[in-house]
Amino acid sequence: MASIHPDLHERSLRDPEGFWGIAAEAIHWDRRWDKVLDESRAPLCRWFSGGSLNTCYNALDVHIERGRGKQRALIYDSPVTNTVREYTYNELRDLVARFAGALVLQGVSKGDRVVIYMPMVPETVIAMLACARIGAVHSVVFGGFASHELAKRIDDARPKIILSASCGIEVNRTLPYKPLLDAAIDMAEHKPRRCVILQRPQLTASLVEGRDLDWADALANASAVDCVPCEATDPLYVLYTSGTTGVPKGVVRDHGGHAVALKWSMHAIYGIGSGEVMWAAADVGWAVGHSYTVYGPLLKGATTLLYEGKPVGTPDAGAFWRVCEQHGVNVLFTAPTTFRAIRKEDPRGQMVGKYNLARLRTLFLAGERCDPDTLLWAEAVLGVPVIDHWWQTETGWPIAANCVGLGMLPVKPGSPTRAVPGFDVSVVDDDGQKTPTGHVGNVVIRLPLPPGCLPTLWNNDDGFVKSYLTRFPGHYSTSDAGFIDPDGYIFIMGRTDDIINVAGHRLSTGGMEEVISGHPDVAECAVIAAPDPVKGEVPVGFVVLKAGVERDADAITAELVQRVRDDIGALACFRSVAVLHRLPKTRSGKILRGTMKKLAGGIDIAPPATIDDPAILDEVREALRRMGYPREV
Ligand code: COA
Ligand code: AMP
Repeated sequence: MASIHPDLHERSLRDPEGFWGIAAEAIHWDRRWDKVLDESRAPLCRWFSGGSLNTCYNALDVHIERGRGKQRALIYDSPVTNTVREYTYNELRDLVARFAGALVLQGVSKGDRVVIYMPMVPETVIAMLACARIGAVHSVVFGGFASHELAKRIDDARPKIILSASCGIEVNRTLPYKPLLDAAIDMAEHKPRRCVILQRPQLTASLVEGRDLDWADALANASAVDCVPCEATDPLYVLYTSGTTGVPKGVVRDHGGHAVALKWSMHAIYGIGSGEVMWAAADVGWAVGHSYTVYGPLLKGATTLLYEGKPVGTPDAGAFWRVCEQHGVNVLFTAPTTFRAIRKEDPRGQMVGKYNLARLRTLFLAGERCDPDTLLWAEAVLGVPVIDHWWQTETGWPIAANCVGLGMLPVKPGSPTRAVPGFDVSVVDDDGQKTPTGHVGNVVIRLPLPPGCLPTLWNNDDGFVKSYLTRFPGHYSTSDAGFIDPDGYIFIMGRTDDIINVAGHRLSTGGMEEVISGHPDVAECAVIAAPDPVKGEVPVGFVVLKAGVERDADAITAELVQRVRDDIGALACFRSVAVLHRLPKTRSGKILRGTMKKLAGGIDIAPPATIDDPAILDEVREALRRMGYPREV
């Protein structure tokens, strides 16, 4: 089939109201909208204002009413606990309605925030949908974040209640969550009224009397409750993501635009129909998990898969193929890191041959730059189209993709293909002027952003405008650098800010620098991204000690590694740090992070003309060599 992607894209930009008004017909509305696109508070814009709906109703009840009650809605596959469990739409709706009743009993009502700090278990999905059912605003915090990060999110979201579990399980280790939660609540200024704790069989957490409640007890007296109508513009959830400093940004997702965009994307981008199986192998603590492990497939009436395991080690590099065969996965979505990890253990892809992957149609990759080598390897071993697509937590769904449901365009490895309908993407120089075709610059999206993208930051309209809409007026700044080729294919080269992508996890080097600078012996520091053969990028630190510090440098660096682990979390993968006499700087005092990053990547550049002391670069090279950089990628 010839692709209708370019035509639809053009139509969506020419007549956004017409385009998204038609897409919105696929959603059940309690009250139709007054305006498809409301720009009365430009540059802030709202979609479907005046409309009302319930996202949980659209994700569960509507399918039951249309005869899908006995179809699988959710499959939980957990090699780390040896469990496989399936939930039909009927079963999932009943569990969600009852847990929503339990939240109501605890005093949670429309607009209240509920922080969810949980592992990849069905109760996490149930909790998210239960919040949506009663109009409470959930804020899921990834379980790999440590107390300090959790505390920051608690203080910003100010939840009435926190939902958590006794532990997570990483391969064969039980990781207690409750001590981290308790420490976070101690640190936070805001105190939740109640914590509801899921006691997993692997570990029983101790409960704080008067504050904590066992999940099972919370459910004991609860009865099912119905869906509460929400304004299309009401917040469905807040998801915190790394900014350039240690302060995370609360990305808001609304009910109306989110439901319309995600449902539309399921077929148009992913080619998924109702009743089919989509597996987005991402933790629900990330945007991909929210959009395509939870909401997207359920809004479509498809089956989604929740996997509590790793691509390798649970038990081997065939784990993903076992899951695909066992559950009949039609579309798989993961990060390139997953494939690099699998390839490292199974370079010839021999594990694939042990399983029947006849149902697998397409593999989607996102979350970090996809190197052509990884894409071509995945294509060769799986024998299905592999689609690199580009998006951000802020947009909540892909900005650029090869839209399978609209007819595939030729694949160009290294490019996530063309802008998706709704996104008007261009590349501008630092003065905001369009760059010539093929020239690298700042990738921007012309306003309005399509439905489903963040309408604002939580309680912070000014911060939203300042962070995203001010640098290039009339546009949303993606903070990604890239170019567009003569065929309209977008190439994303990397971030223009301090964000790095470690195993597809978004982290802030600025945030790590804040933690390191807090060490009493550190005078100044810099954290840069170094290329890693599996995780794409990992952070590497350089510190200068305060005058007069005579302690052993190895002891100090070990403390710094531990500090980042304790404050941010193990997921930061901060393992390498070196002590220097000085940091390389320009004569005006700017730290030359870009130069250090190039050296860590093995690019031996000449010292920049503005450097104050070129000799310091030799010290950086030597420190990198001792830490094992550059590494072969
Ligand atoms: N709760 C608690 N700790 C967690 C955690 C969680 N949910 N997730 C990760 N961690 C910890 C890990 O245990 C590990 O700790 P350690 O330093 O004590 O070993 C650390 O955070 C780093 O974890 P991870 O990045 O997962 O590294 P790994 O070496 O355990 O696994 C991969 C490597 C490649 C298998 C893994 O990163 C992976 O599956 N990546 C795919 C990424 C992905 O799907 N991203 C989604 C974005 S679209
Ligand atoms: P996150 O908000 O965690 O989804 O991270 C978003 C960032 O990841 C983007 O701004 C990009 O820098 C990067 N990213 C995501 N997908 C891709 C992709 N397909 N190609 C290149 N970079 C990507």
